Amino acid sequence: MKRALITGITGQDGAYLAKHLLNEGYDVYGAARRNSNYNTERLQILGIEKDIKIKEFELLEETNIRNVVESVNPDEVYNLGAQSFVGASFDTPLYTAEVTGLGTLRVLEAIRTISPKTKFYQASSSEMFGKVMETPQNEETPFYPRSPYGVAKVYSHFITMNYRESYDIFGCCGILFNHESPLRGNEFVTKKISKAIARIKKGKQDQLVLGNLEAKRDWGFAGDYVEAMHLMLQAKNPDDYVVSTGETHSVREFVEVTLNHAGINFEWSGEGVDTVAIDKDSGKEIVVCSKEFYRPAEVDLLLGDCSKATEKLGWKPKTKFESLAEMMINYELTLN
Ligand code: NAP
Ligand code: GDD
Repeated sequence: MKRALITGITGQDGAYLAKHLLNEGYDVYGAARRNSNYNTERLQILGIEKDIKIKEFELLEETNIRNVVESVNPDEVYNLGAQSFVGASFDTPLYTAEVTGLGTLRVLEAIRTISPKTKFYQASSSEMFGKVMETPQNEETPFYPRSPYGVAKVYSHFITMNYRESYDIFGCCGILFNHESPLRGNEFVTKKISKAIARIKKGKQDQLVLGNLEAKRDWGFAGDYVEAMHLMLQAKNPDDYVVSTGETHSVREFVEVTLNHAGINFEWSGEGVDTVAIDKDSGKEIVVCSKEFYRPAEVDLLLGDCSKATEKLGWKPKTKFESLAEMMINYELTLN
């Protein structure tokens, strides 16, 4: 039985990956921070909480990381732990660099010195492409990060490559484009939209306040993407791969599709930060914009080319934009 250690087990991807690895017959260890309690809500929702062995873990604590790697002695480490919210990284740039950047180095150092045969997956990000140098983006596209988070991810990406080239560590970087699900954190835009529109539909909330509606993302389903992470570590040689759908849609389109699925009749009015969506039945402004949710520097457009992952790993996205939005709003509508 292979042993996997997942950092960020309590996050969206950690939960889906843990479920996938359990289905593949793995012994799964989850590395989690202790707050007052471990945040195991997502593992509970997927019905796998009891199947995961939780290890107390903090990406800022070198000794703690070394102890966890030594005691688990994993065949594979998936480093998903991060301060992953781009917006928050502008307010906490040093903390983000420590956790999302140097945290990766701490894990790699533990592997290099304690268990160099352990395979390592790094959660790289399309946010590294930032102000994109070409479209679509692939593994050869130069990086131009636009946030402290993106810069920290570029550091983690290159340090993983460096440990592969310097010490022969089997390290792979998955350059994943945005991926969403009903288990997405509440602050990310797709979850914020689907949650708020379901509440508006049920009469529990009046308005949804958003930032830049024109940003475009290549949005896929997290459940599909964790399969690519696993496949990377099963390949003969370590390498880096883009994981994406090859479609791009704006935040505005995500709002439109979600309102349509919720059965709300609406029309847009205004431009830029003055844009509003009006409920045609009630005449109320149900979506408005505020500068509060704009970022100091924006990533305007992301569109990935995942042909390398398809050719070399046999991976393809299964869930399209419309089905993803439908899955998310349906989930929210069924909640109380
Ligand atoms: P997420 O839901 O925000 O999960 C992040 C995880 O990291 C949580 O388990 C969190 O624990 C943990 N964490 C945060 N700070 C930590 C620390 N100091 N020490 C230990 N653990 C810490 O993120 P996700 O969407 O699952 O993404 C997984 C990874 O992929 C992240 O590295 C993210 O940056 C990257 N990524 C995500 C996407 C995407 O679209 N989802 C795309 C590309 C790359 P708590 O529960 O205790 O907060
Ligand atoms: N969060 C948020 N909230 N974003 C908004 C809002 C809002 O109210 N209004 C507009 N947006 C825009 C953001 O400006 C951004 O252009 C886009 O919606 C997506 O924002 P997020 O959902 O927060 O995701 P992200 O693209 O910044 O980052 C996510 O994807 C990266 C991969 O490209 C995160 O999951 C990162 O961890 C990940 O690396």
